[in-house]
Amino acid sequence: MSFYITTPIYYVNDAPHIGHAYTTIVADVLTRYHKLFGEETYFLTGTDEHGQKVQSAADARGLDPQTHVDELVERFRDIWKELEIDYDFFIRTTMPFHKQVVQDCLQKLYDKGEIYEDSYEGWYSVSEEMFYSERELVDGKSPQGKEVKKITEKNYFFKMSKYQDQLLKHIEDNPQFIQPDTKKNEVLGFLAKPLTDLCISRPKSRLAWGVELPFDRSYVTYVWFDALLNYATAIGYGQGAEKEQLFNKFWKDAIHLIGKDILTTHSVYWPTMLMALEIPLPKQIFAHGWWLNEDDAKMSKSEGKVVSPLDMKDIVGVDGLRYFLTREIYLGNDAKFSKELVVSKLNAELANNLGNLMSRTVKLACKNFDGVPPSSLKDARTSGLMELAVGTAKRVKQEIDTMSPNTALGHVVDLLDATNKYLDELAPWKTVKEDKDAAAESLYAALEVLRISAVLLSPVMPSKMNELLERLGITAPADIAAAEKWGILEPGAALVAGDPLFPRAELPS
Ligand code: MSP
Repeated sequence: MSFYITTPIYYVNDAPHIGHAYTTIVADVLTRYHKLFGEETYFLTGTDEHGQKVQSAADARGLDPQTHVDELVERFRDIWKELEIDYDFFIRTTMPFHKQVVQDCLQKLYDKGEIYEDSYEGWYSVSEEMFYSERELVDGKSPQGKEVKKITEKNYFFKMSKYQDQLLKHIEDNPQFIQPDTKKNEVLGFLAKPLTDLCISRPKSRLAWGVELPFDRSYVTYVWFDALLNYATAIGYGQGAEKEQLFNKFWKDAIHLIGKDILTTHSVYWPTMLMALEIPLPKQIFAHGWWLNEDDAKMSKSEGKVVSPLDMKDIVGVDGLRYFLTREIYLGNDAKFSKELVVSKLNAELANNLGNLMSRTVKLACKNFDGVPPSSLKDARTSGLMELAVGTAKRVKQEIDTMSPNTALGHVVDLLDATNKYLDELAPWKTVKEDKDAAAESLYAALEVLRISAVLLSPVMPSKMNELLERLGITAPADIAAAEKWGILEPGAALVAGDPLFPRAELPS
């Protein structure tokens, strides 16, 4: 089994915000889980550097587009590093090898007659540099209220409509191709109407920043045609036998994790492009929901209300932020984002639940047993806890395999809750005086749960869980087999209580 996941490649018009960090963190978490399960993984992210949006952002800064993207791409790379994103490759669409393959694909489609020339009539807004069709106009103006003029322009079109039936059949034959089901139904609704062909050119007189059409140098290609191909070019497609090994190995398992804002481009444009290029389709397109701001609108730069991932990281730490983003949303749904929500969730689940369990057990064990206490399974409640604990890895894996990381974390939270309840009942802090063996048994069990939980949470919080394992005296890297087994901690081994693992977070006043 291999696992290949991609994030959208982000427009480099500004620094990334929480929305961008979300997709990237979830992709990183899923990759780390699959790695933990012993699979071969490949994780791709990057930046979409051509097109009108980037050109306009460069103009606004008074820079040429190349200088602009070279500067801004570093903000993405730096922030991903700070968020402990461990990608295998970071693609930039301005990389020469990518541009070359995009041109090769355009030429191939042109030669096959899949791209044709036609004149395009539409309403053009000079200030927005956008084309509108007659029915998109509102009172003779653009939907944003800008003046428009009728333009007839020669352009190139990809025969997308030709693939409508083939695409419908693929979606019906492969129920997992577009997920969640609600999103699949949206795409099926879109495909219930006849597809049009796709305009894949922009005259350089309007927009020069892009990949030139190899068969007509006075045009650049539409930014989405260039951008979508990144998922294949980044792993070697079209670059000779040696580089294509990676493509051959991973392509059939490709999962495109995207926000629901870009569902049509990924579920209609991209598969039809692939069909025309005779490339097999990826395994899955998974559209997640949005983080909403306080007005319940999508958090986005144009709405103005965005939260910086680094600001959030300063308040709750990188592990806390990664945990919140993975845990709070059922992948596919929307949820509200606010600093207050992050802090209260983390205080409940990390500071109180996990953090307290860790400090109270380790402190008691150090004080009364000088480290890991002897283990036993005399009380039926201990055996019950053990069973719950060793079965958790399997439950986590099932959820990860169906793209439900928040429910996966829920299983670990349930285990920690059960352990806190178990400890409250067995109260080793009381029994330690009259029945030291009983106290040892419950403390040992709680420490084992902590060890297993640390392995199972390590893909979400790599640094903190590594620290937790170290404090429990485990130096080997997290390993799934160890999470399925009870009794790995050695009685008598040293433990480190230290400062609270998850101090209570507070918002700066
Ligand atoms: N460049 C295109 C994608 C091309 S992929 C071949 C693009 N870029 S973008 O910079 O606008 O990033 C969009 C992506 O950022 C969304 O699909 C989503 O993954 C993420 N998000 C941006 N805002 C978001 C929220 N408020 N909430 C969740 N994710 C959001 O579109």
